[in-house]
Amino acid sequence: MQNLKVPFSPLHFQNDTLYLLDQRKLPLREVWVRCRDSRAVWQAIRTMVVRGAPAIGVTAGYGLYLGIRTFQGNRRAFCRKLVEQAKYLDSSRPTARNLAYAVERIVKKVNASEESNVLRLKRRVLEEARNIHQEDILISRNIGKYGSRLFKKGDCILTHCNAGGLATSGYGTALAVFYAMKEKGISFSVLVDETRPLLQGARLTAWELQKSKIPSTLICDNMAASLMRAGKVNGVVVGADRIAMNGDTANKIGTYGVAVLAHHHGIPFYIAAPSTTFDLNAKTGKDIPIEERAAEEVTELFGARTAPRNMKVYNPAFDVTPHELIHGIITEAGVLLPPFTRSIKKIKQLLLK
Ligand code: MRU
Repeated sequence: MQNLKVPFSPLHFQNDTLYLLDQRKLPLREVWVRCRDSRAVWQAIRTMVVRGAPAIGVTAGYGLYLGIRTFQGNRRAFCRKLVEQAKYLDSSRPTARNLAYAVERIVKKVNASEESNVLRLKRRVLEEARNIHQEDILISRNIGKYGSRLFKKGDCILTHCNAGGLATSGYGTALAVFYAMKEKGISFSVLVDETRPLLQGARLTAWELQKSKIPSTLICDNMAASLMRAGKVNGVVVGADRIAMNGDTANKIGTYGVAVLAHHHGIPFYIAAPSTTFDLNAKTGKDIPIEERAAEEVTELFGARTAPRNMKVYNPAFDVTPHELIHGIITEAGVLLPPFTRSIKKIKQLLLK
C-alpha cells in the first residue's frame, strides 16, 4: 500500500514497540507512551491514552501482536493464545466496533492460513496489524474526498468530540472532511463543541484544527442551540463508534442532543465513519453496548473537585442517534443516504472483510 501523508499520527510501531501520543496530556504537552506488551496496550486503551474508534482498532491490532510475540509452542496452542489475547484486548472498551473488528480480522486471517510455523504465524499477525493501520489512512482520505463535496464556500460546520487525526491513523473521519475542504481551497469555518466531560473537543479537536490552520471557534456544548437558531450553523459532521444496520449510530455522549437540535433547525446532520465501524450483528441502536465510565470524570475537572462529595453520578460515554435524524453517512465508499437498511446493504461486501 502506498505511503499516504497525514497531518500527524497518534501512534507508530517500531522495533516491537507501540508508541502512543498520550491524548490525556494534550494540548499542553506532547508525551509519548511506550507499550511493549498487550497489558500495557489494554491499559492505554482503557485509560484513554489513545481514544477514538479507528485509533483504538489500529492500536488493538498491534496489541494483539505484542500479546503473542514471545509465545512458544505449536500452532494449536498459538491459535488458542491468539483468541485469548483478542478477547482480552476487546474487553478494554466496549462501544467502539473498530476494536473488535481489528482483532477478529487478525484471528480470522491466522485461522484461514495453513501455516504451521509459529514464527511465520507471528509475522502474519504483525503484517495484518500493519495492513489495518495503512488501510485506515486510505479510508480517511476517501471519507474526506466524499464528505468535502457536501459543503460549499462560506459554510460554518459544527462538530462534536474529536473525530480527527488523533482518533484515527492521522487524517480523521469528521475532520477528514475539513482537511479535504482545506486542501481543495474551500474557505469555511468550524464550530467546536467542547464535549464534556473529558473535553475532547476543547483539548483535541481545537488543537488539531489550530495546528492545521483551519478557522475554528470553540463553544461550550450548551451554546449550539442558540447559534443554530441565529442561523450561524450550516451543517453538522461527527464521527461514530458503532453503527447498527438500520443506521442508528453511537457516538460521544451529547451527539444525540446535537442531532435533535439540527433536526429542529433544519440543518443537515452527517456521520463520517469507516466501514470498520459498522456492526453486522447490531440490527438497531438497542444492540449497541454503551460504556459507563468513572464518576470522577463528572465530579472533577483535571483533579479538582467540582461537585459535592458522595454525589450520585451517571456517566455514559456515548449515546445513540436514531437513524431518522441522520442525513447521510460518509464512508470510504461514498455517502450512504436513507433508507440506511438499503444503502448499508450495498456496502456489505466491505463490511465482511
Ligand atoms: O471516548 P472517546 O474519546 O474514545 O470517544 C470518541 C468518539 O466518540 C469519536 O467521535 C468517535 O470515536 C469517532 S472517531 C473517528
